[in-house]
Amino acid sequence: MEISTSILNINEEKITETFYNIEAAKTDYFHIDVMDGKFVSNNTVEKMQRYTDILNGITNTPIEVHLMVENVKEYVDMFIPNNPTKIIFHAKAMQNSEEVFKMIEYIKENNIQVGLALSPEDSIDSIKEFIPKIHQVLVMTVNPGQGGQALIPECIKKAQELKKYLDSENLETQIEVDGGVNLQNIKEIANSGVDIAVAGTAIVKAVDMKYVIYTMHQA
Ligand code: DX5
Ligand code: ZN
Repeated sequence: MEISTSILNINEEKITETFYNIEAAKTDYFHIDVMDGKFVSNNTVEKMQRYTDILNGITNTPIEVHLMVENVKEYVDMFIPNNPTKIIFHAKAMQNSEEVFKMIEYIKENNIQVGLALSPEDSIDSIKEFIPKIHQVLVMTVNPGQGGQALIPECIKKAQELKKYLDSENLETQIEVDGGVNLQNIKEIANSGVDIAVAGTAIVKAVDMKYVIYTMHQA
């Protein structure tokens, strides 16, 4: 299973040092949580732009941008120059299915992989029609808006259900979980057929980031 480190709550005093440490700890991705203050009440736009610019200058570790925003196109356009490997957005932020399909194509035209995110209250059915066109589904295991929350167990069941569906349809789409992931629940997550786990607090607040990411990789 791959590990993606959310940089939402890193220590502002040691930004570059922290990014070097996360890279040295062998994270597979940096996970950029962009919140517009509308789709969720928190606003992290300025901070995530600044952090992503710093990352572009110091590492080649892939960046995935998780857009928790209403105006998806505005923020896709904002982050394309940062060459993210992946852009993940919430389909329900769009007006209708046609808009979602258009946004998927637009991101892919820019040679960026596409992920669709499901908040805890969103059903798998709500994005089934898009799954053949996307690289991954981000199953949120907390309510979007902040780090440091506890994982919602029902969301792991959703990830398991999604895995069964993808296998039954012979779809290669990856499954990523995001929110409240830690050393206590990583084994269950790995056993659920999840491909990528996002962790913020469990990694960036750890005494030994290397140990945490190594252990998560082994789960
Ligand atoms: C929440 C974000 C998550 C969160 C993960 O809205 O999408 O990526 O920052 O942080 P932890 O691992 O602390 O829950
Ligand atoms: Zn996220």
